[in-house]
Amino acid sequence: MPEERKRRSAQWFGRDGREGFIYRTWVKNRGVPHDQFDGRPVIGICNTFSELTPCNSHFRQLVEHVKHGVLEAGGFPLEFPVMSLGESVVRPTAMLFRNLASMDVEESIRANPMDGVVLMFGCDKTTPSLLMGAASCDLPAIGISGGPMLSGQWRGREIGSGTGIWQMSEEVRAGRMPLAEFCEAESCMHRSQGHCMTMGTASTMASMVEALGMGLPGNAAIPAVDSRRNLLARMAGRRIVDMVREDLVMSKILTREAFENAIMALAAIGGSTNAVIHLIALAGRIGVKLELEDFDRIGSRLPCLVNLMPSGKYLMEDLCYAGGLPAVLRELVEAGVLHAGAITANGRTIGENNREAPCWNREVVHPWGKPFKPAAGIAVLRGNLAPSGAVIKPSAATPALLKHRGRAVVFEDIDDFYGRIDDDALDVDETSVMVLKNCGPKGYPGMAECGNMPLPPKLLRKGITDMVRISDARMSGTAYGTVVLHVAPEAAAGGPLALVRNGDWIELDVEKRRLHLEVSDAELAKRRAEWKGPPKHLARGYYKLYVDHVLQADRGADLDFLVGGSGAAVPRDNH
Ligand code: FES
Repeated sequence: MPEERKRRSAQWFGRDGREGFIYRTWVKNRGVPHDQFDGRPVIGICNTFSELTPCNSHFRQLVEHVKHGVLEAGGFPLEFPVMSLGESVVRPTAMLFRNLASMDVEESIRANPMDGVVLMFGCDKTTPSLLMGAASCDLPAIGISGGPMLSGQWRGREIGSGTGIWQMSEEVRAGRMPLAEFCEAESCMHRSQGHCMTMGTASTMASMVEALGMGLPGNAAIPAVDSRRNLLARMAGRRIVDMVREDLVMSKILTREAFENAIMALAAIGGSTNAVIHLIALAGRIGVKLELEDFDRIGSRLPCLVNLMPSGKYLMEDLCYAGGLPAVLRELVEAGVLHAGAITANGRTIGENNREAPCWNREVVHPWGKPFKPAAGIAVLRGNLAPSGAVIKPSAATPALLKHRGRAVVFEDIDDFYGRIDDDALDVDETSVMVLKNCGPKGYPGMAECGNMPLPPKLLRKGITDMVRISDARMSGTAYGTVVLHVAPEAAAGGPLALVRNGDWIELDVEKRRLHLEVSDAELAKRRAEWKGPPKHLARGYYKLYVDHVLQADRGADLDFLVGGSGAAVPRDNH
């Protein structure tokens, strides 16, 4: 866009008369000089700071670096808050509110005098909610992640966010770890500002930001407390001003090729299954057709190159020192699989950004020719138990269980599960298939991260560490195991999962992408006639809006009326 063309902000700040007075004078109340309203790009800085989002609690400091950058480049920064979702704190699950936060972002952008926006995210849902909301406006936008925490350190060993909790809590339940030690580890796991430092959902989504081209190179791995994170924030602030001048809107970056690059990067990092849902939802907002099968077709045969928890042993700090995501993307460029010509936020292609990225530690980032795990991308399963699909992350599963046939042990909902799982009288053994219902988008509601069900203590005491588990829930990106997730349609929407009963035989065959309930169609029809319907939730407010309109997991769990965008046209005057 030529510099002289009227920007959105000019329709507020560039006005004469009463309207111009109104739009400028209140903004001046903190000492903003008049020359800031001279037509320079106005940059919104969308800040998800909250003390209730511990992973983003350093954003008050980080945002100052973004502002410095905007000012240095000749822009006018205006910071604004949006709903912030703390994964470890929000109940019943932060995912319930991802779409609400995205609405907040979208409407905040459109209603205000912004020409471009910097998106500041960190904790899991803050990344997709900001990307989705901004995509529905399609202004120039750049993302800056808050960065991962330093590695957890406890008794001489590294412990990772989430992953360490799942491991140690099972040790406690098996009677092998005293509670006092478990409590001691609590103060050693999260010892700096930043988000989870395993390759959980936050690190995965920060990597997706980089792979999609929506952030600067290095966005994913630089720790929150490393000065280079502040530098990156400053450079993002500088860069967005030029993106406005170049009219580099989101839809020019978020192309089909960019999403395919993200899927490839997701496989190479052994990333979270949650990225499947978020990327599909984001693609829906920007008008790119992306389907569940794309993840299998494009990513499942790719190798995992990154040796990070939960699939491996290192942490994000190690990935940073090994070269960060650029070292991983270089492998994909050199292997000839990445769409190297995809444009990124810095105006260069992803190939140009990463083609010469060095790797300093081949234990952490393996070369393409000698991968950490072969063919380890997310697999999409189908069958009469999941007509619209389900996913599994083979890199985090037990290889021997990827082909398995077992008897179902069914839990009707999460309360039923926690009410019975610790009972030694529970009829379950290590060959059983644990099935959890009513934890999907409508069922929980919000599709909680409870798909990695803890194992029965009597089996843990026998030394069993993994079993096949199936649900319509999600799983924390920090979790692991032979866990089939996102079964669609979910039980609460009347999916076949609702009809599974104790003792039914279930066949899982990941190689054949098969998830089959060995019950006849006639018997399933009989059970459907007896089905009592979905659980009842609050009948008002956002819960009602969400349950009435949420799409199933295979469609990104967005609200049906939010798919697509409304652009960034300037609304009518407010007086
Ligand atoms: Fe915030 Fe894990 S709890 S990123």
